[in-house]
Amino acid sequence: MTTQRSQAELELAFPAGFVWGVATASYQVEGAFAEDGRGISIWDTFSRKPGAVLGGDTGDVAVDHYHRFREDVALMAELGVTAYRFSIAWPRVQPAGSGPVNEPGLDFYRRLTDCLLEAGIEPWATLYHWDLPQPLEDAGGWPERDCALRFADYASLVQEGLGDRVRRWITINEPWCAAFLGYASGDHAPGRRDSAASVRAAHHLLLGHGMATEALRRPGTSIGPAFNLYAVSAASDAEEDIDAARRIDGMQNRLFLDAALRGRYPEDVLADLTPYGLEEVIRDGDMAFIGTPIDVLGINYYSRHTVTGREGAAGHVVTSPFAEASPWPGSEHVSFVTGGRPVTGMGWEIDELGLQEVVTRVAAEYPSVPLYVTENGAAFDDKVIANGVDDPDRVAYLDKHLRACHAAISSGVPLKGYFAWSFMDNFEWGWGYAKRFGLVYVDFLTQRRIPKTSARWFGNAAKRGGLLGHGTITAQ
Ligand code: FCB
Repeated sequence: MTTQRSQAELELAFPAGFVWGVATASYQVEGAFAEDGRGISIWDTFSRKPGAVLGGDTGDVAVDHYHRFREDVALMAELGVTAYRFSIAWPRVQPAGSGPVNEPGLDFYRRLTDCLLEAGIEPWATLYHWDLPQPLEDAGGWPERDCALRFADYASLVQEGLGDRVRRWITINEPWCAAFLGYASGDHAPGRRDSAASVRAAHHLLLGHGMATEALRRPGTSIGPAFNLYAVSAASDAEEDIDAARRIDGMQNRLFLDAALRGRYPEDVLADLTPYGLEEVIRDGDMAFIGTPIDVLGINYYSRHTVTGREGAAGHVVTSPFAEASPWPGSEHVSFVTGGRPVTGMGWEIDELGLQEVVTRVAAEYPSVPLYVTENGAAFDDKVIANGVDDPDRVAYLDKHLRACHAAISSGVPLKGYFAWSFMDNFEWGWGYAKRFGLVYVDFLTQRRIPKTSARWFGNAAKRGGLLGHGTITAQ
């Protein structure tokens, strides 16, 4: 039995206590969209807009986690994972985005967390993974300051309702996506295309993060945001390319890192965003809230961006099945080009060294805070063959990225855990059900779960606390 192996036999042993987790998000997995008093979210509305989501798919049923969570948690336990990062649907807890709590909605998360705790799996709850209550969007959404205040109220309700069971909190997931794909490119809900509004949204998402952090704080809690960070390279040494890399690094990474970890926005990004009025939206005291101390930083890592600022360069980064290029503020005159690496089923380049680079950079340049990879994974075109799903490409992806994590830890980076995205196949936003990121395959018609080879591989790594010889794939 591999679980009996001593640490010495492992090629790469991770530190004791390393968190081996899996992640999902409410709208992507829960379904039950009209049950137990759940309100409508911007993703319910957006997914019903013709042409917004591939195949007209919605999260109405998703993978029915709302009803099948016991089976899902039992499978997590059997595989051997030690933590589950899920998100709480704001419209379940507070259907209108303000006002009283909807107890039946909170009860779902009580049942889920109790079930996890009984199984010995640590609950990691994300408060905002993009399902904003529609009434708040109708009132202007994240571009309005009030949204941040409403988010802080919601955080207090969640702390009151679940704080006896949950200690690990992620405030906001990927504010870059929520702001710029939601309000600038229009690829994500609410599908607006207003660059100035997207910049205000980014500020208010960060403000909401800071306020929620204060609302959640109790002795023994661990709180932080999850940012989608990228390794960024200039396509050449040309001045225009180096400046393009500065801009994109500024928008993707430093805007969020400097705000949350230094309590200020980077000067060059402020200047890039002057046409969109970032400075005008900042009120006295905001940056102190945004820079409120955090206990952990969640890093979602998927790929590297290689960029050029030279005119006429072809290429784009894939953010939706529909968009050719996405006009994010600050990214004008920048093109995303290939770095020549193999890609996943999303067309995203596979670059595990980029993960090492990102965590090493954050550890070196920002005040010391424990880091967690809160998402990492890949979509591939999985097929069921003889009742099983063999996914060697995903195993190789996970293996490479975990090795990169190990190398970072060995060089002193305080990386404390890794969550695979995703526990199971689910609703992949604009792609609907066309992209499979799961360790566990889901038959979307029958809801049958089939652990892929990668699920067993990852669970065994978790049980051992490390990786075997390079490329070793053992199901047992
Ligand atoms: C991230 C999202 C997550 C999932 C992965 C593939 O940007 O946080 O919900 O869709 O991408």
